[in-house]
Amino acid sequence: DLSADLFGQTLTSPLLNASGVHCQTKEELNDLANTSNLGAMVTKSATLQAREGNPNPRYYDLENGSINSMGLPNLGYDFYLDYVLQEQTKPTILSVAALSAADAITLLKDLQASDYQGPTELNLSCPNIVGEPQLAYDFEATDRVLNEVFSFYTKPLGVKLPPYFDLVHFDKIAAVLNKYPLTHVNTINSIGNGLWVDIDQEQVVTKAKGGFGGLGGTMVLPTALANVRALRQRLNDSIKVLGTGGVTSGEDVFAHILCGADLVSVGTQVMKEGLGVYDRLAEELKAIMAEKGYQTLADFRGKLKEL
Ligand code: DHB
Repeated sequence: DLSADLFGQTLTSPLLNASGVHCQTKEELNDLANTSNLGAMVTKSATLQAREGNPNPRYYDLENGSINSMGLPNLGYDFYLDYVLQEQTKPTILSVAALSAADAITLLKDLQASDYQGPTELNLSCPNIVGEPQLAYDFEATDRVLNEVFSFYTKPLGVKLPPYFDLVHFDKIAAVLNKYPLTHVNTINSIGNGLWVDIDQEQVVTKAKGGFGGLGGTMVLPTALANVRALRQRLNDSIKVLGTGGVTSGEDVFAHILCGADLVSVGTQVMKEGLGVYDRLAEELKAIMAEKGYQTLADFRGKLKEL
């Protein structure tokens, strides 16, 4: 039994798409809605205005993952709000991103006034907007934005976080997040600003930002697990943890849940394998659970043992 919970909605599977992968157009979103063993879906992070994103090439497949500098290409907030209000057939998290704190407030004020009552995720961690820092690396700025947001916003809201690498930074971001009635954190976003070198060509592999880009896939799995675990250990029980990063197998899904993930997202591996990955992961996870004698995800969620 792989059933899971999305803030009160029962899902048939704990698996999600990672925002950005196959979720930008209506056609792609409808594909997700029709994907078996995808428990819920997440939309491409929407900005107030539609964006073309950064120049191509902006995604590059690596042996152990991927590098991208997409630059938030999206059809604009109005399109995704219409989609979740009118076309949604599977539980969906509306992902929104802001290029400034002021944009975040404008967008969430509109959402507060709208008919939408479902879950939203505020992306505090896009690494690919030229000249913009990742907001969630600035703890005081994150606190200020959330303080203003929750002065008016009363609907379900979570945040997408960048990876942290320092135990004191986990303490600091958790202390900020615990002040607010967040539904969830989604961790991790891609590891910002890696660089790949094509040895034959002696050049970078993506165009924007001189080749620097966000890393995903297998190479980020240990960072993702650390972030899921460290945040689960520090956040209020009321804040769910959505684990994202480095999942290519049922074992990886199991590991995320053992670290405390309530739901688990798949990004790079969908790019490599297509939407059939969710059936494979569900079967592999079920086989691991059967072998271990676990009936439900709650039997092992968060129960990682220390030495
Ligand atoms: C983009 C945004 C993200 O949040 C991310 O992790 C990777 C890429 C983007 O559109 O550039």
